[in-house]
Order: sequence, then structure tokens, then C-alpha cells
Amino acid sequence: MDQTVLFLRTKQRSFYFGIVGLFLLSMTNIACEKEGGKTAEGNKPSAIHIGVAGPMTGDQSKLGGDVERGAQLAVDEWNAKGGITGRAIRLEVGDDQHDPKQAVSVANKLVNLGIVGMVGHFNSSASIPASSVYHDAGIPMITPASTNPKLTEQGYANVFRVVGRDDQQGKVAADFVAKHLKAKRVSILHDKTTYGQGLAVEFRKSLANYAGDGLEVVSFDGVIQGERDFRGILTTLKGLQPDLFFFGGVFPEGGQLAKQAREVGLTAPMMSGDGVIDPKFIEIAGSAAEGTYLTFTPDPDKMPQAAGFLKKYREKYGNELAPYAIYSYDATNILLTAISDSGSTEGTKISAALRKMKYDGASGHVEFDAKGDVTKAPYIVWITKNGKFEEYWKPED
Ligand code: ALA
Repeated sequence: MDQTVLFLRTKQRSFYFGIVGLFLLSMTNIACEKEGGKTAEGNKPSAIHIGVAGPMTGDQSKLGGDVERGAQLAVDEWNAKGGITGRAIRLEVGDDQHDPKQAVSVANKLVNLGIVGMVGHFNSSASIPASSVYHDAGIPMITPASTNPKLTEQGYANVFRVVGRDDQQGKVAADFVAKHLKAKRVSILHDKTTYGQGLAVEFRKSLANYAGDGLEVVSFDGVIQGERDFRGILTTLKGLQPDLFFFGGVFPEGGQLAKQAREVGLTAPMMSGDGVIDPKFIEIAGSAAEGTYLTFTPDPDKMPQAAGFLKKYREKYGNELAPYAIYSYDATNILLTAISDSGSTEGTKISAALRKMKYDGASGHVEFDAKGDVTKAPYIVWITKNGKFEEYWKPED
């Protein structure tokens, strides 16, 4: 036989052996994943993959980054303690750019990567479409931020959130506006997204409770997310002479609205929701941020149970305010505790453990109701004062 042919045959043979070997190795890995995580390379246990997703790039990347950092801190702590039954935890990061279609594509990618649980997504407009993908794959998801009621009204047994809902948040905002500010004329704006419009609708619904006191919604309008000039609509609002204008949306537009309201001479205070509590809102609005209100949960700096988390987070990532990091830290710990408690990486077993979970986290005590919502949503009102967010008003119990 010719030397060249022999060489080729030998190469081909080792190529085929290589392919068969890789196939057997991957089958062994998959089987071992199912049997408790031993790989074929000796006895090194395979990693447990979980996902985290949000707007990692683009105008809301600060929010996505905070959520990733909170989740990573929790994962690092679990790994430092030996992971789960000796298996390391690996965090897979998805960037949905707060876009519904991108969120579905990210969810499919994460499912294909073999995640067994999900922390995310951030925006309701991403979490709701992505939840169908995780539901079909039987993978539990815990959002650290999505507040639109529909997410947990779909009847999915795998969906949870560690934050409240916009019907609860909208009611606290309405009670504050009616009882504390005693406003009579309210204008409402929203960014036409699932979250922003949904919150605006819930706020309007709760304001209707005060119609008998003469409180009136004088306008209800959508603005386009991504646009940066809102002077036209703000000038119209000025003509309506509201006592307050509300914005359902996120800080990039919220910051511009606060700033441009002052520019056009709309002097009524602005109020918004949890999508605006970020230092970037104050950076964009500048001095016009002073005296604006928003709804969010109580200040972690005043909560003893958050002290350990805040110290570790700030040592690792610096002092910049990251209101959602504590929620992704808790969501990740809750997910990993459920995996550990259930002794399984099977979605149905993890979801069952989540349903029974009683967890004392950095953000407080977390338990889920039958829908996957938290049993307590302690929304309060914050004000921006001297360039900082501070707690301002609490509803009566
Ligand atoms: N709470 C906001 C949302 O649901 C961040 O999109």
C-alpha cells in the first residue's frame, strides 16, 4: 500500500475514533447529569448551570448589570462553600436588551445551554414572552424585577417573582397622591411597554377610588420608548394644569421627562414607579430630579438583614447604588436553595421546592403564594432630595 494512502487511512481512522469517543463521552456526560452529575473524566462532578438575563447592553444596561452582579455574588458564595453536593454552579448570562423578541431568543439559547433554573428576566416585556419558553422546557424562573401582574396570572407552575406587582405598587402611588399630596388633577404618561403602560393603568384604576373626593385624571398618554424629546406632550400637559404628572416607565425616558418638564415650565411634581429608581435617573434629570416621587421597597441600608449583602456587594463592585442587585442576589440564593433542598436538577422538583420555600433573605422574608407571587409587597414612596433617593411616605397598614 502506498504510504500516502496509509497515512490518510490512519488519519481517517483516528478521526472516526475521535468522533465516536466524543459521542460516547457526551452521552456519558448527559447520563451523569441526570444521575447526579459525575462526568466521564474520572470523578469530577459536572457543573450545575443556571441563567440570568436582562438588558445587559443598551440604555438600560445599568439595570441588567446590577442583576448580573447580584446573581454572581450569590453563585460565588455557593461555589466557595463547595457548590451543591460537590457540583460547581455556573452562571450563564443572557442579554435581552429589554426587547420581547430578543428575550425569547435568549431564553431558547439558555435552555439549549442546559440551564436548570433561571433568574430573570428584568423587564416585564421580556419576562412574559420568555416565561413560555421556560414553561415549555419545564425550567423554573424567578424574576428579580418584573412587576406586571400578567406574569404570574398565566397559571404557570414554574414562574415566581421576589418583587411585588403593579396592582399593589399602583395602589400605593394612588393612595399617596390622594391622601398625602391631596392632588385633584392628575396627568398620566406611560412608555407603551407591558410594564410602563400596565403600571399607568393600575395607578389610574386605584385613583378611581378617590373620584368621590373630586380627584380627576385629566390626561392619559403614551410616549415612545427610545425617544428623547418629550417637550411637545409636556407642553400639552402644562396647559392642563395638573397637580401631579405620573410616568409609567424606566429611567432613560423618566430622566428626560423630569428635565424637560422644567424646561417647558410644567411645575407639577413628577411621580413614577420602580423602573426609575436608579442613579442614572438623577444624572439625566439633574436638578429637575429634586422633589420627584417614586414607589419602591424600603431602603436596604436601614434593614439589618441586608447589611451583610451590602457590605460584600460594595466590597466587590463599589458603592454605586444598585437597587435591584439585592433582589437578584435573593432570587439566586432561593433558586439554589430549592435545587439543594429538592436534591435534584429536575424542573418540577425544583418548582415544588420553591412553592414550599420560606427564605430569610437580604431583602426580607420571602414566601410564594399559589401563583408564584410574594406574599408581602411592602411598597413605599421615595423622594429625590439633595441628589439622592430617600424614603418619604409609608401607607398605613
Ligand atoms: N418592574 C419593571 C418591569 O416589570 C422593571 O418591567
